[in-house]
Amino acid sequence: MGLFDCFGAFDYCTHETSAQTHEIPTKNVRLFSYYSLRSATRLFHPSNRIGRGGFGVVYKGVLRDETQVAIKALSAGSKQGIKEFLTELATISKIRHPNLVQLLGCCVEGDHRILVYEYMENNSLHTALLGSYSKRAELDWSKRAAICLGTAKGLAFLHEDAEPGIVHRDIKASNVLLDEDFLPKIGDFGLAKLFPDNVTHVSTRVAGTVGYLAPEYALLGQLTKKADVYSFGVLILEITSGRSSSKAVFGEELYVLLEWTWKLFKEGRLLDVVDPDLVDYTEDQITRFMKVALFCTQAASQQRPDMKQVVKMLSTDVTLNEKLLTEPGLFRPKSSSKSEGDSFRFSSHSDKGKECVTQPTTPTNLEHSTTDMIPR
Ligand SMILES: Nc1ncnc2c1ncn2[C@@H]1O[C@H](COP(=O)(O)OP(=O)(O)O)[C@@H](O)[C@H]1O
Ligand SMILES: [Mg+2]
Repeated sequence: MGLFDCFGAFDYCTHETSAQTHEIPTKNVRLFSYYSLRSATRLFHPSNRIGRGGFGVVYKGVLRDETQVAIKALSAGSKQGIKEFLTELATISKIRHPNLVQLLGCCVEGDHRILVYEYMENNSLHTALLGSYSKRAELDWSKRAAICLGTAKGLAFLHEDAEPGIVHRDIKASNVLLDEDFLPKIGDFGLAKLFPDNVTHVSTRVAGTVGYLAPEYALLGQLTKKADVYSFGVLILEITSGRSSSKAVFGEELYVLLEWTWKLFKEGRLLDVVDPDLVDYTEDQITRFMKVALFCTQAASQQRPDMKQVVKMLSTDVTLNEKLLTEPGLFRPKSSSKSEGDSFRFSSHSDKGKECVTQPTTPTNLEHSTTDMIPR
């Protein structure tokens, strides 16, 4: 067995690094050799590329035992020690839920930092719902409803059941992956911790993505579970409307999806937001989903439900008291106010207010489990 061919069955492996030898706890983390991942991807052949994110390229790979895997090669070299990297990875690998993508292991040879995940047959929700027409999938209402509910359950698990609770920070369509039955699994959770500051400028994860960003996180750096709830609300609207939240293209005023939905809701025309390609939905159910989205995206974070409540609101035929609904909050940086929802980086806390416009400018409370006050 080669130096890096040790698997989870062994509690300790010895790794030679350039300067010294470390004892590394590898329980729950399967260590792959670079050689094995190189051959699984046929030398990282471009034809095996299945995605690209802020951290690097994702390849489809087939291991020697014929298991299909997704292999994410990180573009920036981590300066974090191998030991710390693996310790954090071990925590994340322990987390298992049917709606969270399983991290199978990693490779940490030399400068290489590679993550290995279970392979998801139908790529991401972004590709299937919002991607180029040739790659889109037929997503009828029952599939879409199951995607909303499954994603909500995964997020509720991260928030309420994982120990310690995890705020995802970057819930969006490209981070929701779809299995062979189009059931959803959230990707990327908990990995922000694994990367040093020097890679955050290319990361959509840490800074978030315009269109999905809760205003209090964008403006004040208050990152709580409620910021994920906000992003999840935006995601529901994308799923029900079949439209991207990142483009301001609605109405003459060029509203973004959330503003547009709120306007139609106030006019009693919520069903006008529904994707015209959808035919098989019940009006009551899809209306309830869209109202849940509006509850999740309210400007004041304390007004938003928690994810356990969201799961209930989506899965049971509850009547939502829409009189309690307050206006959504919205963040968009002035420079890109009518354009793409690309990732961006916050400059500093002091000048955020000048760079951004919000609507409305509602102060948010600090008492909710704030896990990280300063986005990296
Ligand atoms: N396990 C997987 N199975 C199939 N495709 C995947 C998997 N993981 C990632 N991808 C594809 O790669 C893209 C980028 O992956 P992601 O993990 O989100 O990277 P990043 O954190 O850099 O954004 C996804 O949107 C998806 O298209
Ligand atoms: Mg991603």
